[in-house]
Amino acid sequence: MKLSTKHLLGIKDLTRDDIQLILTTAEQFKEVLQRPVKKVPSLRDITIVNLFYENSTRTRMSFELAERRLSADVLNFAATTSSAAKGETLLDTVNNILSMKVDMVVMRHSASGAPHFLAKHIPAAIVNAGDGINEHPTQALLDAFSMKEKLGKLEGLKVAIIGDIMHSRVALSNMYLLRKMGAEVTIAGPPTLIPKYIEEALDVRVEYNLKKALQWCDVANVLRIQLERQNQPLFSSLREYNLAYGINRRLLESLGKEIVIMHPGPINRGVELDSDVADGPFSIVLNQVENGVAVRMAVLYLLAGE
Ligand code: CP
Repeated sequence: MKLSTKHLLGIKDLTRDDIQLILTTAEQFKEVLQRPVKKVPSLRDITIVNLFYENSTRTRMSFELAERRLSADVLNFAATTSSAAKGETLLDTVNNILSMKVDMVVMRHSASGAPHFLAKHIPAAIVNAGDGINEHPTQALLDAFSMKEKLGKLEGLKVAIIGDIMHSRVALSNMYLLRKMGAEVTIAGPPTLIPKYIEEALDVRVEYNLKKALQWCDVANVLRIQLERQNQPLFSSLREYNLAYGINRRLLESLGKEIVIMHPGPINRGVELDSDVADGPFSIVLNQVENGVAVRMAVLYLLAGE
């Protein structure tokens, strides 16, 4: 089977079959990653550049590890130490890199739509590793993989996405993916951090009361407050945000049921999650990070096949 697309720009462009294919392929790569020798020769003749115009820990290292596990040749680019800092345009930078016979581009950029722009101008396959407040497709895929691994299904699953929905590319990619795969989605957070008309646009529910959202869901995917993307304050203080929307052990114990806690990272401990939840028995945060490598191997392998 093949993907219906040459690039992975967003979950919005994927079919249900594409998502299913990536998740099934990732299961096979997860099995490879349990072996003593974790490397396969699948991308031996492929060269990939990781083009990061914005900070990253998990995504950048996870892509690099996935590429090396597939035996690809890897180039790493950080905007701050490159000639982008001297004024070179994105397109000039990428065309110069591609002239060195590079086959695929993994790109993170603070501008929404940057990978979509590149896809119109270059021949290489592009994987979006997060563009501004638009999408973070491999995060949604690894989140879905982790939910399915933990709870056995996506269809009919009740997922609450909690926090700064307005500025979160993780939230948007998760909403697209979960609705395509038949999960129910409730968005929870302060009204100022939830886009207007989101129910109609994305076929999700909105709940402003955190405890009600947690009582409803099987999985809570908790997001960071993205202060770097907020031009003006959208709530009174982090302390007050924590009082209204922070999740602690006492709150989880008051639900009378067990739910799975997820977070894409980086966590702001004591704001959206207390440490007794982030490191507690219901958290699968580090499983998400582990699964990211297998999921990114699947994406790169399938796109290289295109
Ligand atoms: N989840 C995620 O994108 O983390 P990084 O910003 O560290 O890559």
